[in-house]
Amino acid sequence: MPKGLPDPRWHPRHADQRGRALDTARSAVILAGGQGTRLRPLTLGRPKPIVPLLNLPFLHYQLALLRRHGIQDVVLACSYLVEAVQKTLGDGRDLGVKLRYVVEAEPLGTAGGVRNAADLTDGNLVVLNGDVLTDVDLGAMLSSHEARGARASIYLTPVEDPTPYGLVETDASGRILGFLEKPAREQITTNTINAGIYLLDRNLLELIPRGQAVSLEREFFPGLLARQVPFFGFVARAYWRDIGNLEQYRQAHVDLLRGTVNTPLTPTGTRRDDVWFGEGVTLAASARVAGPSVLGSSVTLEAETSVGPFTVIGNGVSVGRGSRLEGAILWDEVRVGQDAVLRECVVGSGAQIRAGAHVGPGAVVAENGVVP
Ligand code: GDD
Ligand code: MG
Repeated sequence: MPKGLPDPRWHPRHADQRGRALDTARSAVILAGGQGTRLRPLTLGRPKPIVPLLNLPFLHYQLALLRRHGIQDVVLACSYLVEAVQKTLGDGRDLGVKLRYVVEAEPLGTAGGVRNAADLTDGNLVVLNGDVLTDVDLGAMLSSHEARGARASIYLTPVEDPTPYGLVETDASGRILGFLEKPAREQITTNTINAGIYLLDRNLLELIPRGQAVSLEREFFPGLLARQVPFFGFVARAYWRDIGNLEQYRQAHVDLLRGTVNTPLTPTGTRRDDVWFGEGVTLAASARVAGPSVLGSSVTLEAETSVGPFTVIGNGVSVGRGSRLEGAILWDEVRVGQDAVLRECVVGSGAQIRAGAHVGPGAVVAENGVVP
């Protein structure tokens, strides 16, 4: 069996996860209005919903997940660099969904964003944080929601360190007992966190005041608990990662390249020996590419370059003679000079890495940046 990109045969736990449809929740709202501060400088010019992941805009993965579970009506709640998002994702037709946009003039917070976007929808809602890469079975989540008579459900996932997330305590039946956003270390009572996907009965939206900034995590969820609304956690053994900081963003590439995420999406192009080649790739005879890796369209690798493993190169990138790239993520149109070394770093579109430069682990080069 070849090694590399998503192949469901490697993951028997996905066998029953072939897109069971959600019956009663037909619309989804994706919260995509944050400024992506923890991904700066990458998000200064490109908002988080469309940062590339294996050269595809991030939200393609969420839209494919929704589509797989029968949800075709999707509203994006945006407020930051909205035109760029619209230009990239369009009306969703290519991905088999109907995508509409609601723009917040001033950010309305996560609850305000849902309330505002929900006006375009009918029925109960699936809500997703717009920065979560997951293959969770939404159909199973809905079954659990209904079987328990829930009016709100949260997908929960275990993590090593809950402090950057929302900590969620449940009882043995899964009923949520406490929700604490960004807990301090001494407040940690469990390693289960809010994974950023919710099912909400429509009539709960009335609890969110209109036209003002309101938080799901800090106001709405604690409010549900205070009212004793049937509110449950759904713990799944699924892949999950919030791509909202640089380390997690790079790690998401590694996971996709390893095939640990069950997604119907693959990189554009054709695959040979665990390397995806886009159209019009030019490889010198002495260039070496180790998989798993992805080369976008019109990539040029000059003589004696060494690329991979775990390297993703965007469209129109050129790599000069003798350069070495390992674990590097390059966006489109990057120019790498001769004898440069790039390891475990992220390089924004249009950047120039000059001859002989070294870009080391954890480094990030802004769009159009220059590394002398
Ligand atoms: N429309 C809109 N308006 N969207 C917003 C706004 C807003 O004012 N503020 C944030 N968002 C969107 C972001 O774009 C992102 O997709 C999502 O809401 C969550 O915001 P983050 O800023 O990424 O939050 P976080 O990662 O610190 O924490 C959230 O996600 C964790 C899981 O990844 C919380 O929901 C935590 O409880 C959760 O554990
Ligand atoms: Mg986040």
